[in-house]
Amino acid sequence: MKVNFNERYQPRNQLRYIENALTSEHLASDGRYAAHSGKILGRKLNAEGILLTTSATAALELALSLLHLRPGDEVILPSYNFPSAANAVLRCGGQPVLCDIEGVTKNLDPESVAAHITRKTRAIIPAHYGGISCEMDLLVRLASENHLVIIEDAAQALFSSYRSVPLGTLGEYGVYSFHYTKNFSCGEGGAFLCKVQETLLEAEEIRDNGTDRARFFRKESKFYSWTRPGTNHVLSEACSALLYSQILESKRILSRRKAIAEVYQNALRQGSDTIFQKLQPMKVPVFMTPNYHTFYVDCASLADRESLRLFLLKEGIDARSHYIPLHLSVYGKKLGYSPAQFPVSTSAAERILRLPLHTQMTEKDAEFVAERVIRWAKKR
Ligand SMILES: Cc1ncc(COP(=O)(O)O)c(C=O)c1O
Repeated sequence: MKVNFNERYQPRNQLRYIENALTSEHLASDGRYAAHSGKILGRKLNAEGILLTTSATAALELALSLLHLRPGDEVILPSYNFPSAANAVLRCGGQPVLCDIEGVTKNLDPESVAAHITRKTRAIIPAHYGGISCEMDLLVRLASENHLVIIEDAAQALFSSYRSVPLGTLGEYGVYSFHYTKNFSCGEGGAFLCKVQETLLEAEEIRDNGTDRARFFRKESKFYSWTRPGTNHVLSEACSALLYSQILESKRILSRRKAIAEVYQNALRQGSDTIFQKLQPMKVPVFMTPNYHTFYVDCASLADRESLRLFLLKEGIDARSHYIPLHLSVYGKKLGYSPAQFPVSTSAAERILRLPLHTQMTEKDAEFVAERVIRWAKKR
């Protein structure tokens, strides 16, 4: 049997929507499908103020450009992370300050954040790893005590929640990704969420080459012009049409992913002590509702993780490790970080193995994967 790590959900009407987009007059940005997608996202997230972007990275850059960072300004983010947020900070003129994560959720550790706040800190970028929330109560409190902005990196966490509040809506700004690997995908794409109308208009202008063209299209002004420095981060209508076809079927996508994750959770939870010494299935704190973006196991060591990964590969199962923490990366070292820092991030990077999880899998596929994982643990 072959079980791929990821496969894209194929919505029923995607080709029809794409064809409509291609044959319409409006193939650039902010057409009918962008409007539909924005409306559904807003309703589901219980939030207004959503702009579609070309990626989550672009949305992070938008959020950071709204901070108007001055040289030396610092922005805190986890080392165990994709480089997008750190890149966005650098590109917007700030200094990324890495922190460690905590061991249960692999998310930003509030204690590490508190230890890294200085007079120059302007913002915190918590990333919700695998669609599981950061400890937002503590982070929001830290931010408000220190007058910091929170930019939630919910790239992996669309439709996850923390104490029933959708992720991406708890901070000042939220960003989402619609990259091919995400639960809802249009190949490459993203969204930026901002709750303050005036700031949203500023973001809209930055996203559209520093112009008020969107207002002109809404017939709110007679012409448009260059109003501020900006860039082009707008999503095309063809991508928006694909995105629309996916989020229309979000219930089905989430329920299929949940079903697969539950097969893993139930099968691995029934393991014996010998199995639990070799690996632990991921844990989700009770007040966090995930979107089942990822299901990983925590192996006892790097050697065990690699042994399990190769064993599964031989069985036709594509399971994968994840990030090289930023402090261990080539550029992280250039920024002055050293391998001895952030031990929890280093340990997570060595021990995490992500099992296949996608909507095209059946429960039988997941049972097969879980059975092979248990077989490996008994033999090891
Ligand atoms: C936590 C996190 N942030 C940001 C990104 C970047 O997303 P995009 O590819 O849409 O720019 C990713 C992509 O994997 C991610 O996992």
